[in-house]
Amino acid sequence: MTGVNILAIDYEVAENIITNNDLTKILDTSDEWISTRTGIKERRVVSDDVTSVDLGINAAKKVIKRANFNPSEIDLIIAAASAPEDIYPSVACLIQNGIGASNAACFDLKAACSGFIYSLNTASAFIKSGIYKNILIVATDTTTKFSDWEDRSVCVLFGDGAGAAILTADNSGCDDIKGIELLADGSCGDFITLKYKGKSCPLVKSETQEIKSFINMKGKDVYKYVMTLIPPKIEELLEKTNTKIEDIDYFIPHQSNQRMIDALAQRLGIADDKVISNIEHYGNMSAASIPVAIREGIDEGKIKLPAKILLSAFGAGMTAANAIITLK
Ligand SMILES: CC(C)(COP(=O)(O)OP(=O)(O)OC[C@H]1O[C@@H](n2cnc3c(N)ncnc32)[C@H](O)[C@@H]1OP(=O)(O)O)[C@@H](O)C(=O)NCCC(=O)NCCS
Repeated sequence: MTGVNILAIDYEVAENIITNNDLTKILDTSDEWISTRTGIKERRVVSDDVTSVDLGINAAKKVIKRANFNPSEIDLIIAAASAPEDIYPSVACLIQNGIGASNAACFDLKAACSGFIYSLNTASAFIKSGIYKNILIVATDTTTKFSDWEDRSVCVLFGDGAGAAILTADNSGCDDIKGIELLADGSCGDFITLKYKGKSCPLVKSETQEIKSFINMKGKDVYKYVMTLIPPKIEELLEKTNTKIEDIDYFIPHQSNQRMIDALAQRLGIADDKVISNIEHYGNMSAASIPVAIREGIDEGKIKLPAKILLSAFGAGMTAANAIITLK
């Protein structure tokens, strides 16, 4: 049976570093409040003329080079992009054009911060069914462009970045995807929202109000949702895949809040030295958080390969996803 080879992972982050102290110039906040509540010390923020597509193209070029691939070999591009600058063309199509992957089909996958794991599962299904052999995933968002910089409870949390991965078909009997579970609960849709409204035709009755496209979040509800849902679902996945928690070399959860990362690890009985976190320097980079943490962890020697890795993510929707993968 065809398996999936996670051939390479790479990333690009925004160029500007904004520290908590920088934010005190525009907000009633403090380094102390932000770091103790979230673990974030600084985040990367794009300049006005840089888009999620630009970050995605750079991450894609790096991962293609790392995988020693030719862009023309890519069959499909999935962009885990949930807050694109434009509704269409899709981020995936723009990245395709930017890297010259002219043979690739393209679509965006919107699962907010769970987007990378949702994309892994989608890519894996295409590969295992024999439809595509080589798939590029690019998780990219410039969430800071949709932050209300007057809302201190939200804007301090986010940063901008892109993570990219190349998955290929493996016919040697190996499969790097050991197990994945995707979850969603639309009844909690109002926990995190980023609204956008079009305008009706002037010939019909319209009461459409202008709205500002900013992220709104019920932080405490998100916290509770994650802490209630994720640990038992991870335990289920471990059981389903016959994996003991001791067999997991590293736990890489979505980088949204250090307190949540610590609480999840503690609840699951995962030792601190197996938990990979870089939130201090980047904040929450949406779906890019996990691939950036993987690549950076390997480059900094925090992750030693080969490794069995537990991934866990959650985000607007609400969506959530857990995965057990191996990296060689
Ligand atoms: C956002 C979060 C850090 C807020 O922490 P909290 O302890 O719940 O804080 P609260 O929202 O109750 O706010 C407590 C107080 O701090 C204030 N506050 C909020 N943001 C602040 C900031 N940046 N600086 C200073 N004070 C702030 C609030 O106004 C409130 O003041 P009040 O008590 O006078 O009304 C926390 O709820 C969280 O991380 N939730 C999960 C969010 C998440 O992960 N989202 C992304 C999912 S992909």
